[in-house]
Amino acid sequence: MLKRISVLVLAGLTAMSVASCGSGGGSGDGSITMGFAQVGAESGWRTANTKSVQEAAKEAGITLKFSDAQQKQENQIKAIRSYIQQKVDVIAFSPVVESGWDTVLKEAKDAKIPVILTDRAVDSKDTSLYKTFLGSDFVEEGRKAGTWLVEEYKSATDPVNIVELQGTTGSAPANDRKAGFAEVIAADPKFKVVASQTGDFTRAKGKEVMEAFLKSNPDIDVLYAHNDDMGLGAIEAIEGAGKVPGKDIKIITIDAVKDGMQALADGKINYIVECSPLLGPQLMDLAKKVLKGETIEARVVTEETTFTQEQAKTALPGRKY
Ligand code: AHR
Repeated sequence: MLKRISVLVLAGLTAMSVASCGSGGGSGDGSITMGFAQVGAESGWRTANTKSVQEAAKEAGITLKFSDAQQKQENQIKAIRSYIQQKVDVIAFSPVVESGWDTVLKEAKDAKIPVILTDRAVDSKDTSLYKTFLGSDFVEEGRKAGTWLVEEYKSATDPVNIVELQGTTGSAPANDRKAGFAEVIAADPKFKVVASQTGDFTRAKGKEVMEAFLKSNPDIDVLYAHNDDMGLGAIEAIEGAGKVPGKDIKIITIDAVKDGMQALADGKINYIVECSPLLGPQLMDLAKKVLKGETIEARVVTEETTFTQEQAKTALPGRKY
C-alpha cells in the first residue's frame, strides 16, 4: 500500500524522473527507508555515484527511494518535500548548487527527519539543519591541480595561458575547485587564466565551450577542466582544431573515472586529481548511526589521490568506475 502511495506522490513530480526501489518508511519496525535526491546523470562520476548508493543501500538492507533532479534545484526541492510527505526515516542528497536550501531543510527538521549531505555542501549558516556532510575536499582538489601545474612549468619564463572549464555555476565543486586552483597559481604572475566559463560538468558543453575558447584565444597552453567529462569533450574540440591534446595544450582534470584515466594513459590528458564517487557504503553507515542516535562527525572527508600518465596505466585495469 505504502509503495502505491509513494508512486502516486512521485508521479506528480513531472519535471524529474523518479524511481522507487522497495517499500516501507518511518514504520518504527526497525526497517530503514532513505529518500535520496540525486543531482542528475551529467557525468561518468555521477553514474558511478548513483550505482554506489543503490548497491550500498541494497547491501545494508536499506530501502531506497531515488530521484534524479536533472541538474535542477527545483526538482531536488520537490523530491525532498515528497520524501518528507512519505515520512521516510532519513533523507540524503547531493545539492546541485550551494545556496537556497534553508526553507526545505527546515521543513525536514520540523518533520524530525534527519538529513545527510553527500558529495556537495550547502552554504546554510544553520548547521543544525543537517547531521553531517560526507564528501570530498573540493578546495584541496583545486590546489592539487594547481600544484601540478606550478611544478610542470617551474622553469618556464614566458606567460602560461590557461583556460578553465568550470563545473555547474553555483555548485560547491565549481566554486571550490576554482578557488583552490587560483590560490596556488597566484604565487607566480606568469600563470594567466585567459578564459573561464562553465561547461556544466557535461561532455557536450565542455566541447562547445572549448571550441569557443580556441576561436577567441589563439595561444592556449593549458586547459584546467573541473571534471573528466568536460575535459574529454574539450579533447574533441582540440583535435577538431588540428591541435594535439596533452602536447600542444596540456590538460588537467578532476575525477579519475575510467574514460578520463584511459585518456590520461593515452597521453591526451596530463594529470588527473581523483574525486571518489564511491560514497554509498559510508552513507549507509552514517544513516544507521544517525537513526540509532549515535554521535557522528559533522564532516566526513573522502580519501583521494592523484594520477600521472604512468600511474594511470598501472591503475586502469583494477579501476572500479
Ligand atoms: O560533485 C562532484 C562532481 O559532480 C564531479 O566531479 C562531477 O563529475 C560531477 O558531475
